[in-house]
Amino acid sequence: MDKIHSLTGMLDLYEDGDSSDLSKNIFETEKRIKKIFSNYYLKEIRTPALEDTDLFKRSVGDISDIVNKEIYSFQDRNDKSISLRPEGTASVIRSVIEKKLDQSAHKLWYMGPMWRYERPQKGRYRQFYQAGVEILGYPEGAPEFEMISLVCSIVEEFNIADCTIKINHLGSQENKKAYCDALIKFLEPLKKNLDEKDLERLSRNPLRVLDSKNEGTQLILKDAPSLKEFLEPKSIELLEAIKGEFSDVCNIEIDYTLVRGLDYYSGFVFEALSSNLGAQDSFLGGGRYDDLCSKLGGKDLPSIGMAIGIERFASLISDITPSDKIVSFITLGSTLEPKTYKIAHRLRSLNKNIILDMQLSDSSLKAKLRRANKNNSEYAVIVGEEEFNNDTVIIKPLKDELKEQQTVSIDELFEFYKAL
Ligand code: HAM
Repeated sequence: MDKIHSLTGMLDLYEDGDSSDLSKNIFETEKRIKKIFSNYYLKEIRTPALEDTDLFKRSVGDISDIVNKEIYSFQDRNDKSISLRPEGTASVIRSVIEKKLDQSAHKLWYMGPMWRYERPQKGRYRQFYQAGVEILGYPEGAPEFEMISLVCSIVEEFNIADCTIKINHLGSQENKKAYCDALIKFLEPLKKNLDEKDLERLSRNPLRVLDSKNEGTQLILKDAPSLKEFLEPKSIELLEAIKGEFSDVCNIEIDYTLVRGLDYYSGFVFEALSSNLGAQDSFLGGGRYDDLCSKLGGKDLPSIGMAIGIERFASLISDITPSDKIVSFITLGSTLEPKTYKIAHRLRSLNKNIILDMQLSDSSLKAKLRRANKNNSEYAVIVGEEEFNNDTVIIKPLKDELKEQQTVSIDELFEFYKAL
């Protein structure tokens, strides 16, 4: 019979058994990022994967590439157009408005799969995971610093090398409009030199031409008016203050050509990139979106947010050592198990910070120790026939060759485990 395969651009993730280590890094990244989020006093929000298609048209923008070409939309059984979310911000704002929470400030995080029908390549999938943060209800200023501090904490926690955080300011709606007009005026006479994609961008969303991958276009843009000339001094001051404050922690670069692919941004925007990622070099992006809430029918809710692409981020991490301590529990001879399970049960309740791997097979001591070493156990607790009869266990250190194994009573084992 024909085998059924996963869909193109959609990964199966295994904590155990993925030779590239990508899955392991993804799971560990998620765990540690959640800790950092709670460290910043962010609260979790979880919204559905499916939404009314109009939500994304009205937020991400029906002229954006995402809504135009990449969204997974279909009619449900009631002939309503619904879509798999291509990103998380629109859903968060929809939910906040619906629950009438748009009158007050919130600091939120989420994590989950997103879908975009893109051409798959290294670092680009059709289903991918994002960890996102949305700080709602605070005007420009403090949240910008908090957001860059958070990005720096994440980069630091994982020791990401060759990382640059690019920041820019798109100005007020008026600044943005004046700059777009100037850009159109500059590019109009040069249209014959632009490729089809850039021509389309010029007519639909001129700022996106700055993002062009075409070398010819980039050459033309060298003489284009700079966004900097259209910004108010306070916007430039904000960029310089952020760069000044955080440059000793992360590599921060002001880039007046940085634009984002989603329509809702205004004001401060940023992306984090690594030269180790290849063509898809951005592993995190975000910015301010002060008008989105009112545009979706809610109150004025000045907000800023960001999302990390977990797969891209995880691929940058080398040598991730799981932060948890692991102990392997090894019994020899299947008749011993009922009593030893109870000992293991008690150990788990005595110290919840330790992961206890109860080895369930009836394989040899050698095979069980091999497994304990493979899963990075710090100790093996071994109960053989003799220990069982004497109410003792062996504690065998696995990481420190200088430490000797010792035979202890069950009570001593409990004390030892509690102190780990
Ligand atoms: P975004 O830049 O579209 O922003 O996506 C954020 C990150 O998701 C990217 O930097 C990238 O790492 C990852 N990503 C995007 N598409 C793919 C893909 N096809 N495969 C793998 N990874 C991908 C947003 O989504 C905004 N909602 C961020 C935000 C939150 N802005 C304000 N609040």
